[in-house]
Amino acid sequence: MGSKPYDPRDAYYRKAKQAGLRARSAYKLEEIARRFGLYRPGMTVLDLGAAPGGWLQILSRLVGPHGLVVGVDLQPIEPVAPNVRTVVGDIHAEATREAIRALRPDRFDALTSDMAPKTTGIKDVDEARSIELVRTALELCDEYLAQGGSLVAKVFEGGEFRALLAEFRQRFERVRLVRPEATRGRSFEIYVVATGFRGGS
Ligand SMILES: C[S@@+](CC[C@H](N)C(=O)[O-])C[C@H]1O[C@@H](n2cnc3c(N)ncnc32)[C@H](O)[C@@H]1O
Repeated sequence: MGSKPYDPRDAYYRKAKQAGLRARSAYKLEEIARRFGLYRPGMTVLDLGAAPGGWLQILSRLVGPHGLVVGVDLQPIEPVAPNVRTVVGDIHAEATREAIRALRPDRFDALTSDMAPKTTGIKDVDEARSIELVRTALELCDEYLAQGGSLVAKVFEGGEFRALLAEFRQRFERVRLVRPEATRGRSFEIYVVATGFRGGS
C-alpha cells in the first residue's frame, strides 16, 4: 500500500508536540502516575535528569499550585510553571546538592529519575554508566526522600539489573517493574516503581 507501518515512537512524538509537551517521555511518567496513583495535589517531588522538562510538566500539573517540583539537570531548563524550580548541575556535585537543599530544606514526598548518560555506543560502558546513575538516585533517596515516599527510576536491563533490584528492595517496601507503552519497541529501558521508602539515615 506504500504507507509506513505503525510506529508508536512517531505517534507519541506527534502527540507530545500537539499537547505542548517538551518530550515524548512525558507519556511514560503520565502512564506510571496514573497506574500507581503516586502524585497528589500539594506534594513535593525531586526530578533528577529533568531536561528538557517533559516530566516536570506532568508533575507540575499533578501536584498543583500548592505543590513543588524541583528539577535537576546538567542542561538548563526553560521555565515550566510557578510551582517548578530548577537547578543546573551535575547531581554528583556537592554544589548541586546544596542548591537543592536551598530550594527545599525538608525531604521530598517523591523522587523521579529519568537520568541517562551520553551514550558512547559501547554497550558495556553505556550500561555501567546508566547503572551508576541509578545507584546515585538510590543514594539520594537516603538524603532527600521522606519515609514512605516513592522513587520512579529508569533502568537499562543488563548484567547488573538483578543486583540493582535487590538494592531497591533494601530501601523500599514494594518494587515493581513497568515498561510503559510509550517506550520504544526494542528498547532495553524499564522503569522501576519503588514505594514505601523505609527511611534514610
Ligand atoms: C532522557 S533525558 C530526561 C528527559 C526528561 N525526563 C523529560 O521528560 O524531559 C536524561 C537527562 O539526564 C541528564 N543527566 C545525565 N547525567 C546527569 C547528571 N550526572 N546530573 C544531572 N543530570 C544528568 C541529561 O543531561 C539528560 O537531560
